[in-house]
Amino acid sequence: VKTSLTGITPTHIPHIGNYLGAIRPALRLSETYRTAYFIADYHALTTVRDPAALRGHVHDVAATWLACGLDPEKTLFYRQSDVPEVFELSGGRAGVTATGQRERGVAYKDALAKGEAPNAGSFYYPALMAADILLFDTDVVPIGADQKQHVELARDMASRVNHLFGEGTLVVPEPLIGEAPLVPGLDGQKMSKSKGNTIPLFEGGKKLRKLCMSIVTGSETLEEPKPAHGTTVFEIYRQFASEAEVRALEDRLAAGNFGWGHAKAALYELLERSLAPARERFVALRSEPAELDRVLARGAERARQTAQATLARVRARIGVR
Ligand code: TRP
Repeated sequence: VKTSLTGITPTHIPHIGNYLGAIRPALRLSETYRTAYFIADYHALTTVRDPAALRGHVHDVAATWLACGLDPEKTLFYRQSDVPEVFELSGGRAGVTATGQRERGVAYKDALAKGEAPNAGSFYYPALMAADILLFDTDVVPIGADQKQHVELARDMASRVNHLFGEGTLVVPEPLIGEAPLVPGLDGQKMSKSKGNTIPLFEGGKKLRKLCMSIVTGSETLEEPKPAHGTTVFEIYRQFASEAEVRALEDRLAAGNFGWGHAKAALYELLERSLAPARERFVALRSEPAELDRVLARGAERARQTAQATLARVRARIGVR
């Protein structure tokens, strides 16, 4: 069985775009792969510098994945900072990594491009991420296209180590860029926290209704027929609806005398209803942070066993103790 591993940076409460783009596909992979999904709290430090907020985001993310159906007995589910072995691998490998490789890292280059003094975090970010991946003999890393380069760096590093110390020292991972739907946000651009156009996954009631009603739409009159495909309301709707519901909404939009307000109300009702069970689980899980910590700590215990086995193999190969 192949291993699929990915990290989730806890910078915000997950939104619908995160769910459709990352959480749902990753959970599907757990049916066919050995899976390890962890909360990359050290990676969040490049943006979150408030300890209470960081802990809160970790709990938001943990409760979200569990509420969406992650089974911590099946999937290795842990917090990165509970697995210190990551640092030995990322630091130890520094001796065989060219600085040029790190300078090409996207996070580092982005900071330079914005005229910011890149902090060392963005410089070492890819090295830490590579250790996250390589420590678990990962075969595939499901990620968004923006993270592809980081996985390629991990590949390069693993190949280099294997070249120096023998094949099989590290497993060379591959990025897995799923055909995640492009989920538009309230303003029609890609849904993303930094754009402020998100629908939080577990929002409900009046707030959810208000968000749905604020989606930007075309300016057709009530009577006019309207396109479905490519519109924000429809593209989000189709991700949660049954085939019959999708067709019905398409037909109503095409027929005219059905306004965008009606379509938004239909979207609101669909989200309210289809996310209700997970929303209830989320609220219950999120109200017990100590229990979430226990789930993550149990996962970390198992993760450390795997990590230590990998480290023992690597140490023996490279000649350190
Ligand atoms: N950098 C990733 C992101 O921001 C999160 C991450 C950290 C990660 N370590 C990882 C993803 C290892 C995959 C594998 O999305």
